[in-house]
Amino acid sequence: MSRPRVITVCNQKGGVGKTTTAVSLGAALAERGLRVLLVDCDPQGNATSGLGVRPADLSNSIYDVIVLGQPLLEVAVKIGEVPGLTLVPSNVSLAGSELELAELPLRESRLKLALDGLEDYDYVLLDTPPSLGLLTVNCLVAADSLLIPLQCEYYALEGLSLLTQTQALVRQSLNPALTLAGIVLTLFDPRTILSSQVVSEVRRRFGDQAFTTVIPRSVRLSEAPSHGLPITLYEPAGRAAAAYRALADELLARTAPVAA
Ligand SMILES: Nc1ncnc2c1ncn2[C@@H]1O[C@H](COP(=O)(O)OP(=O)(O)OP(=O)(O)O)[C@@H](O)[C@H]1O
Ligand SMILES: [Mg+2]
Repeated sequence: MSRPRVITVCNQKGGVGKTTTAVSLGAALAERGLRVLLVDCDPQGNATSGLGVRPADLSNSIYDVIVLGQPLLEVAVKIGEVPGLTLVPSNVSLAGSELELAELPLRESRLKLALDGLEDYDYVLLDTPPSLGLLTVNCLVAADSLLIPLQCEYYALEGLSLLTQTQALVRQSLNPALTLAGIVLTLFDPRTILSSQVVSEVRRRFGDQAFTTVIPRSVRLSEAPSHGLPITLYEPAGRAAAAYRALADELLARTAPVAA
């Protein structure tokens, strides 16, 4: 018997490719035959709408799980187009939850408790909002490891120390076992010198902690969510799908389902 490996995709900077990575990686892992639960923990609900589930139509969401204590699997939706991929959706009802959570018992551990005892999945991927508030802290407490997308741009490394400090704080207190699954460079544009400079700088500073796979900037990748499809289905033979499959393979080599 094993429990799933829980990976949180996290960076408090906005627009760095967290959701794109969570959705694309989830789909690529499912394509490899793994059972993946993608939990959208962002009130923006981008992972939800990106998989073709309309946030406004939901009667239940991750809000009911984290704030009201509803069992996680009651809220989960199977993604028909991607066998093996299940979504716990989010919508705007989560927006006020930072304040509500602050008043609740076990406010940092509610997602961890909701994931306790989950057996039928190999990987759980948590998509986080662009902040280091209680929702993100819940993800860091619930996770075995942290996957950090970094955009290939000038300010990419700014704010990274705040994230690693937060990781260190969570490790000291609520989740000593939290590890770094790796850093993935996103939105790489081979035509710009800056992109290559950011890749070199990240490799120099972080060595093996940076994944070998770099995600290219791809118009197709930015179009896919509006069709409600992951890139592995929207443009299966394209560069971006290939990159996310390679990332999935690297992640599989680095992590494995956890023995219970
Ligand atoms: N490799 C890429 N190539 C082209 N566009 C991309 C790529 N990765 C992400 N995008 C686009 O950039 C925007 C931001 O990406 P995404 O939503 O994944 O970032 P995020 O970190 O989740 O943002 P937020 O912090 O708001 O949650 C989206 O419009 C997305 O479609
Ligand atoms: Mg996002």
